Amino acid sequence: MKEFYYKTFTMMQKISFVSILIVSTTLLISCNNSAQKENKTVASTPVEKGLNFAMQTKAVLGKALMNAINTKGTENALAFCSSKAYHLTDSVALSINADIKRVSDKNRNPLNFANNEELTYIVKAKELLIKGEKVNPQMTETNTEMIGYYPIMMENMCLQCHGTAETEVLPNTLEKINSIYPNDKAIGYKSGELRGIWVVKMKK
Ligand code: HEC
Repeated sequence: MKEFYYKTFTMMQKISFVSILIVSTTLLISCNNSAQKENKTVASTPVEKGLNFAMQTKAVLGKALMNAINTKGTENALAFCSSKAYHLTDSVALSINADIKRVSDKNRNPLNFANNEELTYIVKAKELLIKGEKVNPQMTETNTEMIGYYPIMMENMCLQCHGTAETEVLPNTLEKINSIYPNDKAIGYKSGELRGIWVVKMKK
């Protein structure tokens, strides 16, 4: 009798597990479908395609970063903020043959310092923000590429690594940042400020 109950119970467990699996797979598939549809309808111009790519990169990066912060703590999650850690060979990157980087006027990684053209956009964007105006993306065309600039704004969750030293960026995090990036300039930011830009290069 006991065995019967046990068997029935495990069978029911199996059934509910399988149905959960079916429901979640269906959800996943339908999510993918709607995302694909969105790509097709929304990303038609180069500006939109670039933006779409930048937002996907942001999502991948943001998810990995939050996961690292939650499991390892802020000071050990520093390595996860590097966009170079991700080889973005997903469907969007392949379909638009694109390359992405993040640059800033106040950079942490020396490799992420903005060039003159990027700096011009950053300065202009900061002026607009001070006046309370909207910052639009910018698309530049060369013989071989379309190059899109997209603003990266500071959010509350960024403050633990880019905010005020000691109070927001805690001493042990600060120490680690300074040991990896001795020339760090990416500190002292406030939420809502322009932190840098995405630079998306798309082959024509
Ligand atoms: C866990 C700490 C941490 C958090 C949280 C964090 N960053 Fe960073 N950020 C870094 C580190 C470390 C680098 C340098 C990465 C590298 O070496 O490429 C960096 C680099 C950047 C860069 C590239 C330019 C540069 O200065 O090198 C941008 C832009 C940036 N972060 C924006 C953000 C934004 C926006 C948020 C919030 C959504 C955020 N970061 C949250 C640690 C962090």
